[in-house]
Amino acid sequence: MSLSSTTIAEPQVALTRADAATPAALRALIESRRAVRRFTAEPVPEAVIRDCLELAVLAPNSCNLQPWSFQVIQKPALLAALHPVCMSQNAAKAPLIIAVLARPDTWQQACSGVIEHWPEGPAPKLIEHFYRKTAPFQYNQGLLGWRGFFKRQLLRIVGLKKALMRTPNSHADMRVWAVKSTALAAENLMLALQSHGYCTCPMEGFDEVRLRRVLHIPKQAIPIMLLAVGKPGDKAVYNPRLRFPLEQHVSWH
Ligand SMILES: Cc1cc2nc3c(=O)[nH]c(=O)nc-3n(C[C@H](O)[C@H](O)[C@H](O)COP(=O)(O)O)c2cc1C
Repeated sequence: MSLSSTTIAEPQVALTRADAATPAALRALIESRRAVRRFTAEPVPEAVIRDCLELAVLAPNSCNLQPWSFQVIQKPALLAALHPVCMSQNAAKAPLIIAVLARPDTWQQACSGVIEHWPEGPAPKLIEHFYRKTAPFQYNQGLLGWRGFFKRQLLRIVGLKKALMRTPNSHADMRVWAVKSTALAAENLMLALQSHGYCTCPMEGFDEVRLRRVLHIPKQAIPIMLLAVGKPGDKAVYNPRLRFPLEQHVSWH
């Protein structure tokens, strides 16, 4: 069973909004975002950070299990400790760094959370069944991945007759699973900050071992990127924008 096959009452929200961004406004916002590597020391107000994090977590995400977490780093001592961890790159001198972590390890808690916090009274039976039975079957890979291994064999046989979702069936698949949704949240976060007039630089140029130590990142969490955030300084953007022609990446069927 998948959630899309359930007959849940129409959501009580407008699916289009007159005050939502026009195509031109959205284009302007997306086009204005660049990777900024030099920032001023001006701090980012907490209200802005909160607003942007709220928008980050509105990102679409797999089964609404929200497999992400964020560490907001503003304390000067911690920022100073992070700078060498980020290979001493300029971008890491920002007044704010947000560590974006994918969490392949929080799905169980999230399954209970969806049932517990269902917005309109008790969760419908189908929802409850999905989060109590189907999701654990999909996401529990077992100790050392033994469940995943057996699922792979089962899917190979059952899949001869019908279409099936083949992943995630290993701990490695779970990492990819969590990273997909978390990357979408990271993009929401960058665009939200951009809309408030703050620039960002996503960074994967860091020493993961040292980063884990400095930020006390749980073993199972995956730091997918650090976002440097702030007002742009002098020569904030290094290079002109470059993208390959669409034809190189797009095929039409
Ligand atoms: C996952 C990821 C990791 C990145 N890591 C770094 C980094 O460590 N340092 C840096 O200066 N830029 C980093 N960037 C920024 C890219 O270099 C930049 O987005 C790309 O060159 C395109 O430029 P634009 O964002 O200005 O369009 C990263 C971007 C992404 C998405």
